Amino acid sequence: MEKKFRIAIVGCGGMGSGHAVALKSGTGETVYKGNVADAKMPDSAMTTDLRDLIELAGVTDIDPSRVSWAASQGIFTYSDYEEVLADKSVDAVLIATPNHLHKPMAVQALRAGKHVLCEKPVMLCSADLLEVVKEAEKAGKVFYPRQNREWDEDFLIIRKIYEEELLGKTFEIRCRIMGARGIPEDWRSKKEYGGGMMYDWGVHVIDRIVKMIDRPLNDVFCSLKYITNEECDDNVFIHFTFEGGLTVRLEVDTCHFVRLPLWNLFADHGSAEIYSWNCDGKMMRLSSWQDKDALPIIAGSGLTKTMAPRNQETLTELPLPRFDFDRNALYKNFVEVCQGTAEQIITTDHALRVLKIMEACFESAEKGEVIRFEK
Ligand SMILES: NC(=O)c1ccc[n+]([C@@H]2O[C@H](COP(=O)([O-])OP(=O)(O)OC[C@H]3O[C@@H](n4cnc5c(N)ncnc54)[C@H](O)[C@@H]3O)[C@@H](O)[C@H]2O)c1
Repeated sequence: MEKKFRIAIVGCGGMGSGHAVALKSGTGETVYKGNVADAKMPDSAMTTDLRDLIELAGVTDIDPSRVSWAASQGIFTYSDYEEVLADKSVDAVLIATPNHLHKPMAVQALRAGKHVLCEKPVMLCSADLLEVVKEAEKAGKVFYPRQNREWDEDFLIIRKIYEEELLGKTFEIRCRIMGARGIPEDWRSKKEYGGGMMYDWGVHVIDRIVKMIDRPLNDVFCSLKYITNEECDDNVFIHFTFEGGLTVRLEVDTCHFVRLPLWNLFADHGSAEIYSWNCDGKMMRLSSWQDKDALPIIAGSGLTKTMAPRNQETLTELPLPRFDFDRNALYKNFVEVCQGTAEQIITTDHALRVLKIMEACFESAEKGEVIRFEK
């Protein structure tokens, strides 16, 4: 039997422990344990079985409690990162440490001749990513950005409605990620560690949208708030205008105590709504633009005819398309790219564009201005 591809994980906290369970089982099981709540991903018959492909070499962490947790799961533990890099049987390193460590750890691994799978945000700025890509080229190794959320079901639904024009031509999309706990009190609330919600969730929502909308991004506007934390942004609002006029509003909020929909998509023949992560929601399709005229309704202290609700006979409620997906698609692609048998699904060029957009967002928030981007 061929030698399995051996991956070691650096950083065995919330995400690293999830990776450890996923890689150890190989079946797509991702039970998060330890300093995050236990949670199990739903099973999927589509998930690639990685047991013949990947072997978890071990993990390392500077926190002894995380090392003990790993050992308690029967996972090999390295004494430190240097020991991981010196292990010739390790083909690749998965970096799951706080954001500020991604660059130095990636450079170290590439120089030691390891492939790298790096958690998002892959770097804190585009210049750093360019340096790391050069290091990867020099080493002849793969640097793979783990921007994993293009497999999320909510996103797959919105992408299908958009790409297949199920409701006609889309003119606006809104996506809101909403929390109610303020910024976590870990490294995410410290600037020097790459904290803040733009780096935490902003990267995900930008990543997915610009992958889906294959057009130049003309304008970027962003505002950042600091409600529970003076140092790092805890509420993000972004407005994008793509070529052709399609607009997107993205929100990452940590201070929302009422629920707004996770997604809305507005098109010229209908609207779609996804309420939450379990993807409950609906599409309302317009059969005819007739019935433009209506009797006024009372709105506050006045009357409105333009905002009167539509005659329901011209609207049809439809269920959302649903999807299953391969929980191991990204790991599988990473290994195949390292073995030279596949193209990288998440490219460093894409990660670079995402980082440049994030930089435009930071600039917009600082200046309070719209930034012309790819115009
Ligand atoms: N892709 C996703 O969906 C997703 C989800 C959550 C987190 N993440 C990313 O994963 C990374 C880790 O986030 P987290 O939530 O697991 O954080 P965490 O704080 O739970 O875990 C980080 C771990 O790294 C360890 N660590 C710190 N410095 C180290 C060092 N020098 N050597 C070895 N270990 C070290 C810490 O002790 C800790 O156990 C971040 O970059 C985050 O953005 C990605």
